[in-house]
Amino acid sequence: MRLVQTRIVFEASEAVLAIKEGEVVAVPTETVYGLAADGLNPDAVSKIFSVKGRPQDNPLILHITDEEMWGELVENIPEKAKKLAAAFWPGPLTIILKKSGKVPDITSGGLDTVGVRMPDSRVTLELIRLANTPLAAPSANISGRPSPTNSKHCLVDLDSKIPFIVEGGECRVGIESTIISLVDEPLLLRPGVITAEELSEVLGEEVIVSSAVLEKLAETDKPLSPGMKYRHYSPKAKVIIVDGDKEGFMEFLSNTSENAFALVFDEDISSSPRKAVSYGSEKDSLSQARRLFSSLRELDELGAEIVYARLPSNKGIGLGVYNRMLRAAGFDVIKL
Ligand code: TXA
Ligand code: MG
Repeated sequence: MRLVQTRIVFEASEAVLAIKEGEVVAVPTETVYGLAADGLNPDAVSKIFSVKGRPQDNPLILHITDEEMWGELVENIPEKAKKLAAAFWPGPLTIILKKSGKVPDITSGGLDTVGVRMPDSRVTLELIRLANTPLAAPSANISGRPSPTNSKHCLVDLDSKIPFIVEGGECRVGIESTIISLVDEPLLLRPGVITAEELSEVLGEEVIVSSAVLEKLAETDKPLSPGMKYRHYSPKAKVIIVDGDKEGFMEFLSNTSENAFALVFDEDISSSPRKAVSYGSEKDSLSQARRLFSSLRELDELGAEIVYARLPSNKGIGLGVYNRMLRAAGFDVIKL
């Protein structure tokens, strides 16, 4: 790969030429930073896969500014999709529909469907508008690492691999968008801060949550969302989730090796017998979403090799946090 100097820029106008020339640029969104390129240019999209080290059968999401751009990417936009877009865009929701002939196969990972969302970031919407093309963008981490929630995380993973990182501050949401497929009956493929209950409410019908959200796929299963089969969000440390109350957790910790780390709630920090990093407040799933990925990266910086994590709630927004935590832990849960 050609080495470049990676620069942090503050304006969309500074990155638009790179996008037009088929380069890859990191951009902020409200969820996590994305690794963006012109989603309709197969050569540009192929660079995303090589920079990220991403398997080619794992499709990318297209980021748009308006309904007209959306209409060109899909066969048609059903009423249900329009309702969801009206309720949640710009925002952390990706909608999967049958794709149009305009979307290159490499962008959709060879599938006949495509995921689209309108991100809630001023500077990234401006970049899409200036480049006048939808941006394909997976999370801007090296494949398998925790998703980046600030420009520094992007730099750690991507320095010298891309020309620009567009600065957008800390991501407000912190976990990736909710993904719903409307190809058949509404099916939630990835939980996020927009919940199945909220989607059901807007649609006036139940949204089924895919079993892959909480279960490890068998080697032979064909995943509905190809990203689900890959190891995800992993820090370098081995993470083990401990399912128990605060007291039980602390007692468990005190019997672990001295160099173990704890990943806990704000409320637990002062009672931890081991070095501890917090990922938000116990009763506030939004704060956990915002901080989970950066706390996993912080544990790496501290040199943690083994980390025991307190189990987050899996209700409402908590389901999105729990889903990421399970994958970071490779589904390793100890029940007290
Ligand atoms: O919040 C987000 O969605 C972030 C920001 C940058 O927008 N993007 C993101 O992209 O998380 P990525 O590529 O890291 O995750 C997209 C997930 C993958 O698991 C992929 O397999 C799935 O969406 N996906 C994409 N297109 C799909 C499709 N047509 N059918 C099923 N799953 C799809
Ligand atoms: Mg990702």
